Amino acid sequence: MKKVWLAAVISSVLLSPASFANNGDKIVVAHRGASGYLPEHTLPAKALAYAMKPDYIEQDVVMTKDDQLVVLHDHYLDRVTDVAEVFPNRARKDGRYYAIDFTLAEIKQLSVTEGFNLKDGKQVQGFPERYPMWQSNFTVPTLQEEIEMIQGLNKTLGYDIGIYPEIKAPWFHRHEGKDISKAVLEVLKEYGYTSKDSKVYVQTFDFNELKRIHDELLPAMKIDLKLVQLMAYTDWNETMVYDKDGKAQPYSYDWMFKTDGMKTVAKYADGIGPWKPMVVSDQSSKGNIKLTGLVKAAHAQGMAVHPYTFRKDEGRIPAYAEDFADMLDIFYNTANVDGVFTDFPNLAVDFISERE
Ligand code: G3P
Ligand code: CA
Repeated sequence: MKKVWLAAVISSVLLSPASFANNGDKIVVAHRGASGYLPEHTLPAKALAYAMKPDYIEQDVVMTKDDQLVVLHDHYLDRVTDVAEVFPNRARKDGRYYAIDFTLAEIKQLSVTEGFNLKDGKQVQGFPERYPMWQSNFTVPTLQEEIEMIQGLNKTLGYDIGIYPEIKAPWFHRHEGKDISKAVLEVLKEYGYTSKDSKVYVQTFDFNELKRIHDELLPAMKIDLKLVQLMAYTDWNETMVYDKDGKAQPYSYDWMFKTDGMKTVAKYADGIGPWKPMVVSDQSSKGNIKLTGLVKAAHAQGMAVHPYTFRKDEGRIPAYAEDFADMLDIFYNTANVDGVFTDFPNLAVDFISERE
């Protein structure tokens, strides 16, 4: 949709036909909606994002006790809702309130707020400059409610904005007896997302689950969708595997960063979602940008690269960039990524259109 620096693109393509995974189109993914302006993953944040005309709007998806799919970043409810007040006795031993322990009807009773952390028993807003905590009234949407709103807006406004669902912690859901991947794919199929031409990317951090989706679930459902492997470092404990004693151990991502890592990922995925420093080294400085080589390696395998997360909040712009626009320039132009996940979709859309 967005042709950026056409001359540069043409010359790059001429020099290296495999260097672009998507014909030079650069995309914007509204990360958790317009989450820099309204509480993440609420329908108002998604409607606001829609009005900013990104290419895709992201949904993080988790499952409830009664097998419903809700849009929430964490598989806990306590960072963005009043669950601790409404259901004070429902935390697990670790003190967290797991979405999977609540029915949809119970989750619908909760109010959603801008995210916070508890410090000395007090709620401290994660991004202090963002939307005020507990202001107005927001609730947790289901995946279907969100898709229906986006598809409805596609009809009324005439745009073709896609969805970018992330299957959260499938390893955890399966351990709890729930096949979240199958449930998400069934909803996508029901709403007409059935082929690689459909305006959807399905993302997950869990490589074993990505393989299962590619090799088993999609063929069994007779659909084929674009898949994105999200990348993490092993010590983030983002993905776990259960050993023979039932103890969760961190999944090792180390192989993904080695020679041939991208070749293996490309057997199953159409793209990767790396953390920004996996693309542009934190050793970079102004005027001396050091690329890690990940984009080239992924492009050589025909995969798109959509790094996360581009934020303009205080302390979130790396020292090697002058400002938010410069950071976008470094990633879109110097590092040649194909898209970015951003909490500020209007800024990335403006950045791209100004350079068209
Ligand atoms: O899915 C891309 C990006 O959202 C990954 O980070 O933790 O915000 O889901 P997270
Ligand atoms: Ca996500």
